[in-house]
Amino acid sequence: MEELAPISIVGTGYVGLTTAAVLANAGFKVFTIDIVPEKIETIKKGRAYFYEEALDELISKAIDTGNLVPTLSYEESIPESDIVFSCVGTPDRPDGSHNLDYIYGAAESVARVAKDGLIMVQKSTVPVGTGREVISKMKKANPELQFEYVSNPEFLREGSAVYNTLNMQRVILGSDSTEAMDRIEAVYKKVDELCKKLEGVNFGEYTNLAIGRELKAQTKSFEDRVFKMRLESAELVKVSANAFLALKISFANSIAKLADKTEADINEVMDGVGSDTRIGRAFLYAGLGWGGGCFPKDVSGLIAVADDRGVGMSIMNSAVNVNDSMIDYGVEKLQRHLSDLKDKKIAVLGLAFKPGTSDVRKSQAIKLANKLTELGASVAAYDPKAMEEAKETLASSVVLKESIMDTVSDADAVVLAVDWKDFVIADWEAIKDAMSGDVLFDGRNKLDIHEMSALGFRYEGVGRR
Ligand code: UDX
Repeated sequence: MEELAPISIVGTGYVGLTTAAVLANAGFKVFTIDIVPEKIETIKKGRAYFYEEALDELISKAIDTGNLVPTLSYEESIPESDIVFSCVGTPDRPDGSHNLDYIYGAAESVARVAKDGLIMVQKSTVPVGTGREVISKMKKANPELQFEYVSNPEFLREGSAVYNTLNMQRVILGSDSTEAMDRIEAVYKKVDELCKKLEGVNFGEYTNLAIGRELKAQTKSFEDRVFKMRLESAELVKVSANAFLALKISFANSIAKLADKTEADINEVMDGVGSDTRIGRAFLYAGLGWGGGCFPKDVSGLIAVADDRGVGMSIMNSAVNVNDSMIDYGVEKLQRHLSDLKDKKIAVLGLAFKPGTSDVRKSQAIKLANKLTELGASVAAYDPKAMEEAKETLASSVVLKESIMDTVSDADAVVLAVDWKDFVIADWEAIKDAMSGDVLFDGRNKLDIHEMSALGFRYEGVGRR
């Protein structure tokens, strides 16, 4: 078998670990590096330390073949590798900008022990201009080192991370060095070959939902999906793409509020609007709004950079305001029927920031649950995967339950806060029977209004009722 150059991947989050598992399955020897011993120990046992569909299978296979080597040590891994992917986190700063300390720290640590000829690839989402700063810090950390730097932003979605990494919709490469970009393109070519071999493999229900029709019908050749550009352009592609998607959602939510003042149904409206191929139906689903580790941070990061460069980004400020307003909008929907929420029993179904993940970062569902408790409601909540994770940010007065039926028992109102499939296809007749009230707020617009009304619910969606 052909010998593929060893690769090191720094950071074992959603991006780093998924990339590591996929590259290891594509035939590369991959060192997956983290500074947290518990994370490395878990990966050594052949699994991820977070829930992500299809990932454990790939990790365990790669650990068994010896292609995936989890390690805490830069000295053991970096000097062995021609290519290093940086996938470390960029926590939020209070002003909304990214904290880049881990990015710079990892790059300097790599530079200190790397061998000449290194290609440093940045996969973490960073503000435009960060790459130049990383290059300069690496040069300072090791003035002798010969290296190239490539920005290669990652577009995977949580819940379908493995699928997205295999089925690359596009590969964005930005660098001063064409040769370095060619080398990274060759790495992804191997991923594309692995993807073709795995055709027909089922990546699970959320992946199937997430990929939609467009991706399934991937017809472009690998080469046509690779975009080589300037370093700064590549950095700007990633945040602009996420900002645009967040904008689409906030736009749909703004129209939904207007639909609520008429007899229109936002799902019907957006089916019509999204059928224009120039617009597209994706990310026009109205509801409680966006959360997660990416959209909120990327949008506030873009606003911070634009402010810093003196251009402003009022369009994104508006998108954030609309998103923030969706929590109060949900509260108002409940108040329409219950008036004062004090001492009302409200069941919240879902706590993750979206279905298919245990990630609760900036979860709109948690924000809504907390707001309801602030208003004096007695809140019970349940999530199939994110209960432990939710405990950190969920108000302590929210009572966590073990099942849908436990949660809704005796409730005055039920809120579908996350569209987990189990919730959407639940026995809503049994739910209605178990409740003492009849108010249903479908915060994700996923339930059939007529069916719910026929069961005796007073139904409220976002932009439909
Ligand atoms: C996002 C981008 O999609 C991905 O390309 C990037 O690499 C990382 O950020 P992710 O954070 O996993 O991925 O979440 P995504 O599936 O995009 O959803 C983001 C949020 O928007 C979720 O809270 C979701 O519930 C919400 N959403 C999405 C809507 O409210 N309406 C929609 O129409 C789509």
